[in-house]
Amino acid sequence: MAELGVNIDHVATLRQARRTYEPDPVWAAVEAELGGADVLTIHLREDRRHINDRDLELLRQTVQAKLNLEMAATEEMVAIACRQRPQMATLVPEGRQEITTEGGLDVVGEESRLRDVVARLKGAGIFVSLFVDADLRQIEAAARVGADACEIHTGPYAEAFHCHGRDAMAPAIASEIEKIAVAGAAIRELGMRFNAGHALNYHNVAAIARLPGLAELHIGHAIVCRAVFVGLRQAVAEMKARLS
Ligand code: PXP
Repeated sequence: MAELGVNIDHVATLRQARRTYEPDPVWAAVEAELGGADVLTIHLREDRRHINDRDLELLRQTVQAKLNLEMAATEEMVAIACRQRPQMATLVPEGRQEITTEGGLDVVGEESRLRDVVARLKGAGIFVSLFVDADLRQIEAAARVGADACEIHTGPYAEAFHCHGRDAMAPAIASEIEKIAVAGAAIRELGMRFNAGHALNYHNVAAIARLPGLAELHIGHAIVCRAVFVGLRQAVAEMKARLS
């Protein structure tokens, strides 16, 4: 069964809506762990729009599951990651205007810079994952730059699921699942760990969770949305149940 990474950025987004101190993502991490989260994910953005440096520092000290730091491959973030040493870092593209991460990294286009960043993070003892589209060229480049894992962007699949009948057997949806399955097989053949995530929810997750060799799923928005109604601990536990 794939492990569950819970992204708690949205808890910090709610705090920042009032520029106040609650809700605290550190409390959210405890609740998520009690619900069964295997990985806690935070994205420290350049503009600090949700998670901030204090959150990272405290979560680094308190999270007992694996802490995964999503980050852009910038000098500032590499320095912070090497200082804080989370168990895992996921490199993502970052745009100031975007509402959330919009697409995978262009590993092919930034190969030499990413090779250097990956080496520095790995040198600090951090397991490094690259967030990429289900594109074999990008996956091969991720292996060349030394990544430990690739997280396949499931956004196009989730979009197809929502718009084309919400039935994994529908051809438009099945073809997106097949692209992720092919990408996953390539990732594993190249010796990396196969992770996936983005825009997954309680309805669309099952078809991805059953892909062979999938190690981790990274989910945020849907879990925090459900937590508004049932509480975070239960929302995480319900997602864990879907993964099995
Ligand atoms: N994986 C990556 C790399 C992401 O950037 C995000 C969003 O922060 C997620 C997974 C989780 O996406 P969602 O919030 O849509 O579940």
